[in-house]
Amino acid sequence: MKAKITPTQHEVVLNDGDIIVSKTDLKGRITYANRVFMRIANYSEKDLLNQQHNIVRHPDMPRGAFKLLWDTLEAKQEFFAYVKNMTSEGHYYWVFANITPDFDEQGKVVGYFSVRRKIRPSTLAIIEPIYREMLEAERQAGPAKAMEASIALLEGKLKSLGTTYERFILSI
Ligand SMILES: Cc1cc2nc3c(=O)[nH]c(=O)nc-3n(C[C@H](O)[C@H](O)[C@H](O)COP(=O)(O)O)c2cc1C
Repeated sequence: MKAKITPTQHEVVLNDGDIIVSKTDLKGRITYANRVFMRIANYSEKDLLNQQHNIVRHPDMPRGAFKLLWDTLEAKQEFFAYVKNMTSEGHYYWVFANITPDFDEQGKVVGYFSVRRKIRPSTLAIIEPIYREMLEAERQAGPAKAMEASIALLEGKLKSLGTTYERFILSI
């Protein structure tokens, strides 16, 4: 069960060399967390292992972003995203994440891998307003249609820029 944490306005900024690593099973339960993850998110290994990865979910993140994540992983593709996460104290930290399926020798997906590092302030200035708009679209659409609404908004933006999700994310 995820404890209810009240978000604060305090940002935890990663160092340039910080690389956060975690692994999950197929359901998104954490099976490995490196020390940097524990330090930044302020959890012990015991707190993290076997917990859903949404333990660090921040309420400012639109649900549509995670729908794209899971759809991409289920298609056995890697996924790139900028993510606002929350520490155990409610502080926030931004990361650039690369999440990939973890294959066994037979090519079967046995879990997922995530490697995250610091996000550039110039990138944050582009992505934060987009997430804010997506979140607002979700609020207006209501829970049943939230993801549909925010993904449509994002796709509309990408179309008007003449780009794809991955090209856009890697270009900013
Ligand atoms: C390997 C891996 C890493 C993930 N990392 C994060 C993360 O850093 N932050 C996050 O909010 N969700 C992350 N997720 C997605 C969560 O599993 C979950 O889908 C998301 O937090 C939305 O949770 P909710 O459906 O309870 O709102 C990750 C999933 C996987 C498979």
